[in-house]
Amino acid sequence: MKDVMVIYWSGGGNTKIMAESICKGIEAAGKTYELKEVGSATVQDVESCNRLALGCPSMGAEVLEESEMEPFVEAIQGSVKGKKMLLFGSYGWGDGEWMRDWEERMKSYGAELISDGFILNETPDQSGIDESIEFGTQLANA
Ligand SMILES: Cc1cc2nc3c(=O)[nH]c(=O)nc-3n(C[C@H](O)[C@H](O)[C@H](O)COP(=O)(O)O)c2cc1C
Repeated sequence: MKDVMVIYWSGGGNTKIMAESICKGIEAAGKTYELKEVGSATVQDVESCNRLALGCPSMGAEVLEESEMEPFVEAIQGSVKGKKMLLFGSYGWGDGEWMRDWEERMKSYGAELISDGFILNETPDQSGIDESIEFGTQLANA
């Protein structure tokens, strides 16, 4: 079993950059990870990990991506109680409403979020990449 599971959806690649950088931070902490696109992730992946990073950009009108991530989040409702988690994702023109809603939802499922949702505007620049690495290390050590 890996120390940390990182599961994400990314249409344009921005959230994917965040996910990959988070993995670098996990590695820097000396821990192991598994990185999966949500389309190939299972509820079992969530149940079998102690720490979970879940990433999705703001889509629709301030909602999660609806064909893969939204049903996945619904499916893991009963599997995240007490689990240390980081939520992350990229956004465009909004104010982060999708992430605030997502945080409340995961808390209502009993997840233990290690921080507020980590959001970056559009494509991560170097400081965004560095911040992602730092969040990965924080989650690995949480
Ligand atoms: C169909 C669609 C809907 C979007 N809706 C929002 C939105 O409601 N609020 C927002 O801040 N950004 C919105 N965006 C912008 C994306 O969140 C932003 O481009 C993000 O960087 C995409 O991440 P990705 O490259 O990982 O897919 C939307 C983008 C698309 C393509």
